[in-house]
Amino acid sequence: MARSNFAHGIKASLVIALAMTACQEDNDESSASTSTSTTTQTSTNTTPAALSYWQDVAPIYFNRCVSCHQAGGIAPIALDNYQDAKNFAQAAKASVVARTMPPWLMTSDGSCGEYIDEGALRPEEIEIIANWVDQGAPEGTPTDLEHPSRPDLPEAQSFHTPLFTPMPAGTELSEFDEYRCFAIPLGRTDTSFLTGFEVLPGEKRLVHHVVGYLVDANEVGENGKSALEIMNALDAESPDRLGWPCYADAGEGVPVGGAPVVWAPGTSVVQFPAQSGIPLAPSHMLVAQVHYNFPNGENQGLSDQTEIRLQFKSNVMRQAFSVLVDGLLDTLGSSTPHVIPPGVSDHPFSWGLKWEETGLEGLPYVDIWGVFPHMHELGQTFEATLSGVDANNQATSTCAADIERWDFEWQLQYFRTEPMRFGPGGALNVTCHFDSTGRTEPTLPGWGTSNEMCLIGLYAVLPEGRSLR
Ligand code: HEC
Repeated sequence: MARSNFAHGIKASLVIALAMTACQEDNDESSASTSTSTTTQTSTNTTPAALSYWQDVAPIYFNRCVSCHQAGGIAPIALDNYQDAKNFAQAAKASVVARTMPPWLMTSDGSCGEYIDEGALRPEEIEIIANWVDQGAPEGTPTDLEHPSRPDLPEAQSFHTPLFTPMPAGTELSEFDEYRCFAIPLGRTDTSFLTGFEVLPGEKRLVHHVVGYLVDANEVGENGKSALEIMNALDAESPDRLGWPCYADAGEGVPVGGAPVVWAPGTSVVQFPAQSGIPLAPSHMLVAQVHYNFPNGENQGLSDQTEIRLQFKSNVMRQAFSVLVDGLLDTLGSSTPHVIPPGVSDHPFSWGLKWEETGLEGLPYVDIWGVFPHMHELGQTFEATLSGVDANNQATSTCAADIERWDFEWQLQYFRTEPMRFGPGGALNVTCHFDSTGRTEPTLPGWGTSNEMCLIGLYAVLPEGRSLR
């Protein structure tokens, strides 16, 4: 494919497509005689402009779908050429109208905040795709389109997962998947700050997602051993294979200090907001959890080595921290852990965390810029609200997360364009709904495959000049 200024191309043709729609509507008000559509219509209907793959749909597909939908991509079909796009036109219309594609779980109609690099299609993009399909998916005049070039992450340092040949676990919940964790030493000698990341899978057909957990090698886990000892023991359990299994976190018993690196196909460079960064001690390691996926069992025998680029700075304007909080998991520490009974189609669980319970009370506030909602296989919906009081002592309530159709396959971290302030008098409230109709046994909270979580990860930024220690 020719190298051309793709980003410019998209904008230009989108503007044109929208202008055409607008013109058409104007025309309709006076007369429908200039309509190019063959559908019969009443004077109150608007006629969609004549649309084509190359002029109208391909710019959207290349921007929003092709990172996954191309030969060698993780999706089963390609959408970067006319023939495939035409063959899958009806399926594409159905998926974009239902908002199941592109994968983006957060409600994004503005009712729950606005997000950086929002993956959801805009309503006008959905309309263009749907109208094009209704018009018989015409081709138009072929043009050269190029993927948008990646934004840069200056002075990033490269780390790699080992070259690894995954095997489908073949278990009920991960028939065609393997989750594997690898410890990556960061080699920091002084305290420094993690300020951004980029993940580049080596074998795009295999790598479905990557979560990078921060683990302090010296931190003592529940069994009284250090994180390093726990990881070494896990690693030693399969001497013939690298790493260790880890379905939902950094592995059984490994204490984690947040998950600042979250990547799924389509995630670009992430530069943490507000010129902030997460302080790292020399004892911090990154544990990369890689979810290898074999669509329909294909691609077995392939190997992957994923590159994780991390940006460090020795100073930042504002310190940040990444934290995972889960009121459901916390009940494990009580005498009566919360149990999800089997056979219930809608089992809600709610938990709350008051500012005064966070251990952050020494600070005037923190600004929450990023959220990472997380449940396992029984999760259906996820809602989080951040309440507080404003300068006039009025109660406020902000939607912190809203997922109407949870999908364990698509773990995403959502960075907002404006932060949410969490401070004195405030509280974070989370509600998860679970469907246990497929289970015959009660489900306990936990990190395992068949356990559940109602977790939210937060990327929180401290006021300028403040630190946690
Ligand atoms: C982040 C990766 C990704 C992006 C971006 C993405 N898809 Fe998908 N798509 C997938 C995967 C993976 C599947 C396979 C089903 C699954 O795993 O959910 C899929 C499945 C589909 C299917 C169903 C194919 C079939 O077998 O019938 C259609 C249609 C589709 N996507 C259309 C789109 C369109 C249109 C866009 C852009 C507007 C898009 N997708 C963006 C990853 C993606």
